[in-house]
Formats: sequence, C-alpha cells, structure tokens
Amino acid sequence: MALSKYQTLVVLIVARFLIFSAQANSNDPNNPFPFPGLVNHHHHHHNNTQQKLSSEAAEYLASHNQVRQMKGMPPLQWDEKLAKYAQAWAEQRIDDCDHKHHSGGPYGENTYWEEYDESTPAEVTRVWTDEEQNYDQSRLECKCKPETSQCMCGHYTQVVWGGTERVGCGNTTCNDEQGVLVVCSYDPPGNYENENPFEIPYKPVLLRPPRASVAAHKKRLHRQRRIRRHGRGI
Ligand SMILES: *[C@@H]1O[C@H](CO)[C@@H](O)[C@H](O)[C@H]1NC(C)=O
Ligand SMILES: *[C@@H]1O[C@H](CO)[C@@H](O)[C@H](O)[C@H]1NC(C)=O
Repeated sequence: MALSKYQTLVVLIVARFLIFSAQANSNDPNNPFPFPGLVNHHHHHHNNTQQKLSSEAAEYLASHNQVRQMKGMPPLQWDEKLAKYAQAWAEQRIDDCDHKHHSGGPYGENTYWEEYDESTPAEVTRVWTDEEQNYDQSRLECKCKPETSQCMCGHYTQVVWGGTERVGCGNTTCNDEQGVLVVCSYDPPGNYENENPFEIPYKPVLLRPPRASVAAHKKRLHRQRRIRRHGRGI
C-alpha cells in the first residue's frame, strides 16, 4: 500500500563515528561549531544524589541507563551543559532538519529526525538502542560493513559506551515545523574505532591506588587488546 508523504513517518538517523585523530578541539579555527562557552571543559563533579530534572531529561536518562544496566555499564548523569550544546546544535539546523550534519564538537552525538513530532524521548532512545540487533557482541563489531541507513550500530554503541559518563539532549521543530530534530550529546565521547564499547575505563575513585595496580591494570588492558587483535576473542 502506498502511503502519501504525509502519512509516512520518516525516520532517519545518523551516528557520529569518532576516530582517534578526529577529536575536534574547541580552539581549532576549523571547528565548524565553536561555541566557546559551551565546549570548554568545565568539569562538573556530579555526585550521585538525585538531580532535579525535567520529565524529558529524566526520560532520556532513564531510557539510556536501562539499556546500559542490562550491559553492566555504569549509569550516565544528565548534564545541562551537554543539553544546551545539543539544543544549540539542533537549532542550527532549524531550516533544514539536517540530521546527517554533525556539529564536529568534542562530544559524541546521536541525532534523530522524524516528520512531525510524535515520538517520546524513550521512543527516540529505543530507535537508537534497537540497533543492538545489528551488533555482533562476540566479535565486537557491526554485522553490516559498511553500515547502511537500514543497518547501523553507532547510535547503540554510543548509548552503552562504557567510558561515557554524561548525556544531555535537545530538540527543535525544523523545516517549517514539519519535522523534529533530536540531538543527544555524550561526554566523554564513544565510538572509538577498534575499542570495546563495553570496556569500563579504569578510574581511581576516592583514593589514588598504588602505582603498581594502575600499571597492572594497564597491562591487563593491553593484553586484552592484543588478544582481540589476534582474533581469539575475549
Ligand atoms: C550533590 O549535588 C547536589 C547538587 O548538584 C548538592 O545539592 C548536594 O549537596 C550534593 N551532595 C553531596 C553529598 O555532595
Ligand atoms: C522536545 O522538547 C520538548 C520541549 O523541551 C519536550 O517537551 C519534548 O519531550 C522533546 N521531545 C523529544 C522527542 O525529545
């Protein structure tokens, strides 16, 4: 059955893949999105007490953390600075809803676009995390190479990325109010090539551990990476 353009809900999504060398520097004059006040790293040290969140923020956070928990990944915190960044980037695309255009900023970035505003934050997160079916958990790689618009993994791997600690999301109506563009920003960013999404980085908490244990941990990570590279799995 042919649906007219306006009956069809068009959902297009794009992930931002980072590679080691592609980390944008906010002081870089080539950074297409230099929001000095927004991209500088002022490190907010969040504690685990409940933040007062809008229902939208709470829904994004809960839907992300639910999926992370299933993978044994630590929960994200909501970050207003990231939410402002995401909102500002969404608003930059107010005329064209261009979800494929990424901000080039220092954060991980998931985008989502649909015609008309119908999805809830939890549904947007689910579109991203449904990509889990495309991800080969034993090989730690996407089943599709190259990824296509029908088969992606990058949104999912950013949501669950073990090293990501904070998220903030924004959205805007765009294209003459015909569409909605959602942007979520992640810090630290995920989707580093050839890294295990499910690896939780070692972070000294409270007390600085003896140097020896840091060295031992690094050695262990190195060994794991080597084993992976040689195809024996982990
Ligand atoms: C945690 O942070 C909140 C606000 O972000 C603050 O009100 C609260 O006092 C902090 N709690 C602790 C134990 O530091
Ligand atoms: C978009 O933003 C509005 C206003 O903050 C919010 O009520 C709504 O839940 C958001 N929608 C999505 C899909 O993020």
